[in-house]
Amino acid sequence: MIHKRKLVIFDTTLRDGEQSPGVTLNTDEKVKIAKQLSRLGVDVIEAGFPVASPGDFLAVERIAREVGPLMEDRENVGKPLTICALARAVKKDIETAYDAIKDAPSHRIHTFLATSDIHLEHKLKISREQCIERAVEAVKLAKSFCNDVEFSPEDAARSDHNFLVQILTEIVAAGATTINIPDTVGYLSPTEYGDLIKFLIENVKGSDKVIWSTHCHNDLGLATANTLAGIMNGALQTEVTINGIGERAGNTSLEEVVMNIHTHPNVYPAYHTINTKLIAPTSRIVSDLTGMIVQPNKAIVGKNAFLHESGIHQDGVLKNKETYEIIRPEDVGIYTSNLLLGKHSGRHAIKSRLEELGYLGKDMTEAQVDQIFKNFKRLADSKKTPVTDDDLHAIVSDQFA
Ligand code: KIV
Ligand code: ZN
Repeated sequence: MIHKRKLVIFDTTLRDGEQSPGVTLNTDEKVKIAKQLSRLGVDVIEAGFPVASPGDFLAVERIAREVGPLMEDRENVGKPLTICALARAVKKDIETAYDAIKDAPSHRIHTFLATSDIHLEHKLKISREQCIERAVEAVKLAKSFCNDVEFSPEDAARSDHNFLVQILTEIVAAGATTINIPDTVGYLSPTEYGDLIKFLIENVKGSDKVIWSTHCHNDLGLATANTLAGIMNGALQTEVTINGIGERAGNTSLEEVVMNIHTHPNVYPAYHTINTKLIAPTSRIVSDLTGMIVQPNKAIVGKNAFLHESGIHQDGVLKNKETYEIIRPEDVGIYTSNLLLGKHSGRHAIKSRLEELGYLGKDMTEAQVDQIFKNFKRLADSKKTPVTDDDLHAIVSDQFA
């Protein structure tokens, strides 16, 4: 039995997620999403980047005041939600971030500064020494406002590892409580990302005093795999978004990380306190409000994630759901029928749906089922979309007309 520690779920749907091209949420919509995230049981929400605009400031402030104190449906977590605001390593950003979050019972400032040579040279035009100085100053300033301070070396994944050890040792000494390791451009493989987390935990002085956090982007489709590799190597916070929305190809998706841990409780050395039954409803709310459609085959929350179309699969699922389902749909809040009827469906699936629709009680003979099945196949062959219950009703009434 592995010893498990609590994994802090840090949701950044309202900050990194909102940076998805084309997404803009108004304040009421942000508050609505924040309330849902609180019910879902996340531990921290990054509510925004207050210095970015007066609108961003007001949204973070409202979330801090209205959502921060809410405890309904958080029995799983047993603690208030921490409201976090992002700030560059700049005095004005840090002061503004604190102003926006200060009314939440539990609040955090998250400050960041790039550490890769490419960012230092071309974007910030500062030396490594100046980078350390600026980052330490920012953490100390944030610490003068609140105890809970997170620091991110932006583009950590492409930064020199020994430089990371040097700067992060100073950041820990300056009082940061969480160190987040962003793979800002989604560049690393799972082995490399896991090794980086392990290397930093082993080499940064005072690393046991802080929580190590993952922050992965999905440019190569590896955000979830990288995040899980980070958790396997000692990270105890993970930064995620609902439906994996975010810059470019997006961020690690909350539902994928949580359901991986849920499905393999003996693999990961951490547990979560998310109410998994609220995953699908939360996904729908975020999709509706952001206008970002979830791809149908998206793991966990795509509309096809629990549908079975081929006859062989349908037959198996009807006999025992575990033949083709590793997660019970109801565990993520999906309760509708999961058999999609189409041209690959078999007679068993049609008969079963007829039964659910109440037809078999009406003395339907096996010969009639055969005829309905034939008519169903004819329709399914000519139709581009799945056969619906209405289609089946029509076939049955033709049969009995
Ligand atoms: O991807 C990134 O580097 C970020 C930081 C601001 C944490 O989002
Ligand atoms: Zn990011």
